[in-house]
Amino acid sequence: MDFKKIISQMTLEEKVSHLMQVGARFFKKDAGSLNTGPLEELKISPENIKAAGTTLSCANSEGMIAIQKTHLEEDRNKLPMLFMQDVIHGYRTIFPIPLGLGCSFDSELVRECAKMSAKEAAVAGVNVTFSPMVDLVRDARWGRVMESTGEDPYLNSELARAFVQGYQGDDLKGDYNIAACVKHFAAYGAPEAGRDYNTVDMTERTLREYYLPGYHAAIEAGCKMVMPAFNTINSVPCTGNKWLLDDVLRKEWGFDGVVISDYDAWFEMVAHGFCSGEKDAAEKAFNAGCEIEMMSPCGVHYLAELIAEGKVSEEKLDLAVERVLRLKDELGMFENPYKVADPVNEEKVALTAEHRAIARKAAEESSVLLKNNGVLPLKKDLKKLAVIGPFSDTGNVIGNWSCMGRDEEATTFLAGLRAYLPNTEVAYAKGCGHAIFENDESGLDEAVELAKNSDAVVLCIGEFKFYSGEGNSRADLSVPAIQMELARRVIKANPNTAVILITGRPLAIVELNNIAPAILNMWQPGTEAGTAAARLLFGDANPCGKLSMTFPYAVGQVPIYYNHYNTGRPKPNDEGEHYYCSRYVDCPNAPLYAFGYGLSYTTFEYSDFKLSSDTLTADSKITASVKVKNTGAVAGKETVQFYIRDLVGSCVRPVMELKGFEKIELAAGEEKTVEFTIDEPMLRFWNAEIEFKSEAGDFEAMVGTSSDKVTKLTFKLV
Ligand code: GLC
Repeated sequence: MDFKKIISQMTLEEKVSHLMQVGARFFKKDAGSLNTGPLEELKISPENIKAAGTTLSCANSEGMIAIQKTHLEEDRNKLPMLFMQDVIHGYRTIFPIPLGLGCSFDSELVRECAKMSAKEAAVAGVNVTFSPMVDLVRDARWGRVMESTGEDPYLNSELARAFVQGYQGDDLKGDYNIAACVKHFAAYGAPEAGRDYNTVDMTERTLREYYLPGYHAAIEAGCKMVMPAFNTINSVPCTGNKWLLDDVLRKEWGFDGVVISDYDAWFEMVAHGFCSGEKDAAEKAFNAGCEIEMMSPCGVHYLAELIAEGKVSEEKLDLAVERVLRLKDELGMFENPYKVADPVNEEKVALTAEHRAIARKAAEESSVLLKNNGVLPLKKDLKKLAVIGPFSDTGNVIGNWSCMGRDEEATTFLAGLRAYLPNTEVAYAKGCGHAIFENDESGLDEAVELAKNSDAVVLCIGEFKFYSGEGNSRADLSVPAIQMELARRVIKANPNTAVILITGRPLAIVELNNIAPAILNMWQPGTEAGTAAARLLFGDANPCGKLSMTFPYAVGQVPIYYNHYNTGRPKPNDEGEHYYCSRYVDCPNAPLYAFGYGLSYTTFEYSDFKLSSDTLTADSKITASVKVKNTGAVAGKETVQFYIRDLVGSCVRPVMELKGFEKIELAAGEEKTVEFTIDEPMLRFWNAEIEFKSEAGDFEAMVGTSSDKVTKLTFKLV
């Protein structure tokens, strides 16, 4: 495809319009308001619309086909448009929120989920998804932790690769493959005070050590697009940050794909106080390396003028247009501008038994058993089961950012349990509403009465899906007060109670942890919530999720994460009093549940952890091996975690870092040996001079079932 020839035939206005992205509603002929409504909003012309190169949020194949058809009739250059969408954790069949998927520690499962959602999205006319979101997160107050896979750079990198591979497959021309867009570049997950869109300020070393690896992994996996973040990095908005978008992304990493802004982010640099107006924003964003402008008109209003003034180079504009054309070509849009968009197929491939099975499996593997005093698994011969709580009989447990997923298409916990227990009376009481400030206690007595008169209780409480996600930060991490009152009364009425915790973020649940006999954290589990819950609660599926993000003991500990520095005055432990050390007078240092933590219905014993050598050189390898035995009565899966600690460095080093994990399945009584390889590259880090190097010295190798439960051995790098 001779892109340069195509570009040479485009006018300057058409090239600029090609990089403008506005929503599909701007193209729909039925929106009579084309000239008075949306276009008026942004003061863009019908000519801009005719020459547009991409759009977002069309949301169905019928619309895509109609818009594409009109566009090809009206665009002088007959260049097909790209259709983009936020397919974050499923398109129509919704799997758990990515924070839940992170707890599966299962790259193959993540790839399978992405592949499935790409198929449903492709037949609905989507060519590009604004996923994976790989922002590393340490602060549960931030609402978008639900979109991330967690607090660890190694795990985030592994799963970023899996998402990209699942969406893009081996060949973008493939019918059911869509292009991925990694976001939000960079460190959007570290806003001060956990408040969305707030300032991010950190050293380049920290940025490189923890926050950049996930994006880099996605790009190494072939991700086709990058979306800069809304926030500033060291006082410069990512959207206009030349160091980030050009020096790092293009020159250092060699990324040659498309850079698309976040929604209105060009113009929002005015609010940041980084730009004086639209024209300044267009110049700074485009010259920094941001190419497609999403949902703001700075570029179409001023890029031509800036080029005429010599402030923006037309050559750079042509390169940006070429990258967009190349992506269309890689997707096969020039051969077939509609790809597999098809209204009949759109319905046929959505929510199939196969897809529901994948979603159910993902919901099972993402669930984390936080506590179990023996109440679980429940007995199947129950005469009467009470299902209580505001999340029992609602599909809103599919979670936020659920694209075209519909609450009413989800299997609710109540429905799932009723289907699973045909010979049991499964009774329901809502008990209370889900709102944070809900104070209507009128349903509590009925719920308590039901609990009293039932053999067992499943209590479904937690956080409503719109209390997390974009723009939804919280200053408090409690389960809403009325739901805690419901929990106190129900558990007192019937100790044979298991809690299903629904949440888009780690919550501070010390009291619930004290009073609940069992807590199964299902995050926001998606379309198959009820089916997965029934299998987990009754033991047909054995919980195996491990936390990919720390659950704090209290919101005051946040940000809290496992791979922290030791400080000069570490608190030895949380037993007894310790003075003049890094501590709280009113709270332990330890979280409630640590990174990597998760229980099973069986137990696993680790033994015989050994290293093939205690000395590593630049070109040797050490094999770390450990035996893991299922010492319980039922089969189960265990994620064996492998951590390293660099004991002394030219800058301080974390107390531990995940460097490997292996999820194994063991029958009752079965034992397996798990091996990890240690080599010198694994020990490299960003030093104070911003060099990525290892340093000779002493190290600890650790293996275990959770970051706070490991066995240690030492070795040297010489
Ligand atoms: C939103 C989000 C981004 C999303 C984009 C398009 O504001 O920040 O994650 O992809 O707009 O919907």
